[in-house]
Amino acid sequence: MTIETVRTVAELRRTIYQWRAEGLSVGLVPTMGALHAGHLSLVAKALQQCDRVCVTLFVNPTQFGEGEDFKSYPRDENADGEMLSQAGAHLLYAPDVDEMYPDGTTATTEVNVGPLGDVLEGASRPGHFSGVATIVSKLLLQAMPDKAYFGEKDFQQLMVIRQLVVDLAIAVEVVGVAIMRETDGLAMSSRNAYLSADERAAAPVLNSAVIYVATGFRSGSEPSALIAKGETDWLAAGFSTVDYIAVVDSASLNPISDFDPARPARVLVAATLGRARLIDNISVQES
Ligand code: PAJ
Repeated sequence: MTIETVRTVAELRRTIYQWRAEGLSVGLVPTMGALHAGHLSLVAKALQQCDRVCVTLFVNPTQFGEGEDFKSYPRDENADGEMLSQAGAHLLYAPDVDEMYPDGTTATTEVNVGPLGDVLEGASRPGHFSGVATIVSKLLLQAMPDKAYFGEKDFQQLMVIRQLVVDLAIAVEVVGVAIMRETDGLAMSSRNAYLSADERAAAPVLNSAVIYVATGFRSGSEPSALIAKGETDWLAAGFSTVDYIAVVDSASLNPISDFDPARPARVLVAATLGRARLIDNISVQES
């Protein structure tokens, strides 16, 4: 069975209003497609908590910078639709760029979340979180779900979305979902498809590095020393660039240097391996 697919805001709203009229709760799972088990864990969580689940598929041009992989980003709507029907999702919303940006992608309304969007990923990818915040605001306002699901894999993105929902008073509950990993620890990602066999073999060291920094920090070591050693290890494993590795307060994303068991902290990393820019993160308290 193929999943019902709609491509316009009008069709999306018609279906969702119908569900609402029947008294059904609605969960939204925004994605850029090239779905894997990580995405499906969001869908599974949504199905547990909501009567109806809509998955969105849109490769959003405004969150990609110059020279990034917007054009080459993996796209396979048929395979995605197949996985979603197997998973039991109810609706796929797959608009085109004109539907999402009817007046174009420049000189139109943008959503900026302030400092939270400027650090870490935001510093490495200027404008990225403005693109994310804008498209997620649009998707939430188009669908008006009860709950929306986002992965901790993109931890800063999750924080940015929590912030915009509060600031714009969008009536949705944001649900964060734990990172789904391969058995060797590599966080699942659509971009893992870019890795050669040798790169794929080296990639799990990114996860080992965040675990190393998190556990060392928790047992009282200096973050700067841990980070320096982590960087040397990854570079030795074949990563060409480390954009950042940081120990931060989980709420503000500001760097912290002293461990406090009562203050949730997180280690975040971004590094490039071959053609793939990979990210990972881990909770210090839970490491
Ligand atoms: P995309 O990279 O397709 O991811 C869609 C959702 O799946 C995000 O919330 C992401 O955090 C989650 N996800 C990806 N890999 C995961 C993993 N291994 N474990 C758990 N969750 C995982 O993130 C985006 O798309 C876009 O920025 C989007 C929010 C759709 C806006 O365009």
